[in-house]
Amino acid sequence: MPVLTLAAVRDVRQLSASVWKMTLYSPELARPAKPGQFVHIKCGEGNFLRRPISVCNAQGDTLTLVFERKGAGTRYLSERRAGEKLDILGPLGNGFELRKGRYLLVGGGIGVPPLLYAAKSAESADAVLGFRTKDAVILEDEFRAACGEVTVATDDGSYGTYGTIAAPLREMLASGGYAGVLACGPRAMLRAVAEICAEHSVPCQVSMEERMGCGVGACLVCACKTREGGARAMRRVCKDGPVFWAEEVCW
Ligand SMILES: Cc1cc2nc3c(=O)[nH]c(=O)nc-3n(C[C@H](O)[C@H](O)[C@H](O)COP(=O)(O)OP(=O)(O)OC[C@H]3O[C@@H](n4cnc5c(N)ncnc54)[C@H](O)[C@@H]3O)c2cc1C
Ligand code: FES
Repeated sequence: MPVLTLAAVRDVRQLSASVWKMTLYSPELARPAKPGQFVHIKCGEGNFLRRPISVCNAQGDTLTLVFERKGAGTRYLSERRAGEKLDILGPLGNGFELRKGRYLLVGGGIGVPPLLYAAKSAESADAVLGFRTKDAVILEDEFRAACGEVTVATDDGSYGTYGTIAAPLREMLASGGYAGVLACGPRAMLRAVAEICAEHSVPCQVSMEERMGCGVGACLVCACKTREGGARAMRRVCKDGPVFWAEEVCW
């Protein structure tokens, strides 16, 4: 069950030009949190709507979030200091379904953080992480510590493999042996991952992103087109997702 709580900020640090990492002390949020779930954060009095941010890691009583500073809400979060408290609702959403076996994690840009907790929770995992340029690369050391094989790709070739995640993903899937693929990132990347997984007959779960209002299934702002048993259905990313089986999503 999600809780509404005041979580204590332990640390806020900058990871790249636009990305921050926040560590919170909150047993109520950290203990039940599953990989792929998110929290909904009140970002000051001026921002009426809460902002959804994925769980990047949960360990003991500590929750880690990694976010890109985009607008007023995430700017507010980046300016918090240790000792302050944040009004947070969570953990929300369904999270990834993890079974036994080796998983291949595919992340793009700011979609990479939630996969770290999945890497730590899976029996074993490899990762393919895509970024625009070298300067945008985040959490590489953390993934190397949690995974077997890690491939970093950059669109401009300034670091790691040149190009998108598509080629390394195909190569790793061809080597076989994966129980499934877990993916989070821009919609175009998720669609490509879904197609490649279908070609290799590997089950694929994707974490979808939509603008959110309530975060708890009441307002329908976050509706996403899906197929259920052959019929089209609108599903709520906040409550029915954010994780869906790739073949359920109407791309
Ligand atoms: C399930 C989920 C998990 C997410 N996890 C992360 C994460 O781990 N790290 C991270 O950096 N970002 C994450 N996002 C995106 C993040 O919520 C938005 O970047 C953030 O809300 C932008 O708020 P803002 O006030 O800074 O920007 P503004 O653009 O000023 O936001 C204005 C409004 O639009 C909404 N909004 C804007 N962009 C998005 C978006 N992409 N998704 C949903 N609502 C949006 C905001 O909530 C706000 O109501 C996630 C989104 C979802 C739906
Ligand atoms: S955000 Fe209100 S139903 Fe999903």
